[in-house]
Amino acid sequence: MALDKPYLDVPGTTIFDADQSRKGYWLNQFCMSLMKADNRARFKADEDAYLAEWPMSEEQRAAVRARDLNWMMRTGGNIYFLSKLGATDGLSFQQMAGSMTGMTEAQYRDMMLRGGRSPEGNRVVGESGDAQGAMAQSAAWKAWETQARQELAAKVQGAHDAPARGGAGHARVTASVYSSHVPAIGAAVDHGKTQEPYWAPLFKGFEASKQWMKENTPDVVFLVYNDHATNFDLGVIPTFAIGTAAEFEPADEGYGPRPVPKVIGHPQLASHIAQSVIQQDFDLTIVNDLRVDHGLTVPMNLMFGSPEQWPCKVIPFAVNVVQYPVPSGRRCFALGQAIRRAIESYDEPLKVQIWGTGGMSHQLQGPRAGLINAAWDNQFLDRLIADPAGLAQMPHIEYVREAGSEGIELVMWLIARGAMADVAGGQAPTVRHRFFHVPASNTAVGHLILENHA
Ligand code: DHB
Ligand code: FE
Repeated sequence: MALDKPYLDVPGTTIFDADQSRKGYWLNQFCMSLMKADNRARFKADEDAYLAEWPMSEEQRAAVRARDLNWMMRTGGNIYFLSKLGATDGLSFQQMAGSMTGMTEAQYRDMMLRGGRSPEGNRVVGESGDAQGAMAQSAAWKAWETQARQELAAKVQGAHDAPARGGAGHARVTASVYSSHVPAIGAAVDHGKTQEPYWAPLFKGFEASKQWMKENTPDVVFLVYNDHATNFDLGVIPTFAIGTAAEFEPADEGYGPRPVPKVIGHPQLASHIAQSVIQQDFDLTIVNDLRVDHGLTVPMNLMFGSPEQWPCKVIPFAVNVVQYPVPSGRRCFALGQAIRRAIESYDEPLKVQIWGTGGMSHQLQGPRAGLINAAWDNQFLDRLIADPAGLAQMPHIEYVREAGSEGIELVMWLIARGAMADVAGGQAPTVRHRFFHVPASNTAVGHLILENHA
């Protein structure tokens, strides 16, 4: 199912959505850089050299050189970002807007003085208003398009006898995986201590998981975790943040970055999920610049070991559980359902796992630090399997009293559980693996693998 884009038939209008943003990322970032006087001076002194510093497409660079705002928008630019370039050239917003209409500056100003452009005939493509018809194009854009058309024609000719691609279908949620993410587990991996008596029983509990994962490697993991004052400081605190970048570096949490591979994202699927989930009325923060901490990298080691490269792509999904108010279990559970609908409406037959990380019981602060409640944790696992909708009703205060202040991380598991088919009336998932161990550092480690059925 295609995304809901009811705005595609508004004439002479480009809505800046997640797809446009992905396309225009570096073009817009380049424009933002012009907010610094030094950068403006360097750009003016040597445009080509400055543009070469930004990993834009050649077409985007050509559009900037031509100062063709319609062309820049076509390649992903957004007017508020592009206006920094206009400002650098000394243009007003009226001059910039007018330049996209095919009118002269005086004609546009006069139209505005007469009360502006009428929406009559300009609501839908094909009506008879004055904003219908071809977009104003610079000579440079026309020349570029002529050349691109010729290149495309040559390619089409070449591809004529190529075999047809099969495998149509939709993405599918194949399983959900749950795991604690204690940083000391990462340190044990990084320092070769996994076989020491303290750690061996813990890593033994994940042996079967690694084997299962080898046989069931997904194309993409949608990894729900929390950022621990790493990427997000108190300057910005998003409740739900989706990583839409092409890659994510392991963060330096103060000990130096962990020696693990960088995480490769799936910008296209992530943008699709962002748009779909926001259209289902969840407010996601879209993050294109994200360093991932132990919350994400430790479960990767537990499930994949320590390969040279991670064997699949990852979409990081960060949930605020650091500063209250944090989202309720109920909301997390409903969000998981929305994420499943988003994933399964993606037109490519990808196998997607959804992971919930963090927990189980632990308290890292104050005189009550060290709290562990194994009975409560195991009941949580039981209910997560058999009664997730009931479990989702549990208020925060119960997590805090029973599982410690940092046990609140467990609400994130409800996002992954909400994405299983049984929640939407399908078959119950199969429990592939269950493991519980105390302690890892200050924490009770819990782990589940649930295989999804359509
Ligand atoms: C510990 C556990 C966590 O989940 C975390 O984020 C940091 C520390 C711990 O047990 O030490
Ligand atoms: Fe944590």
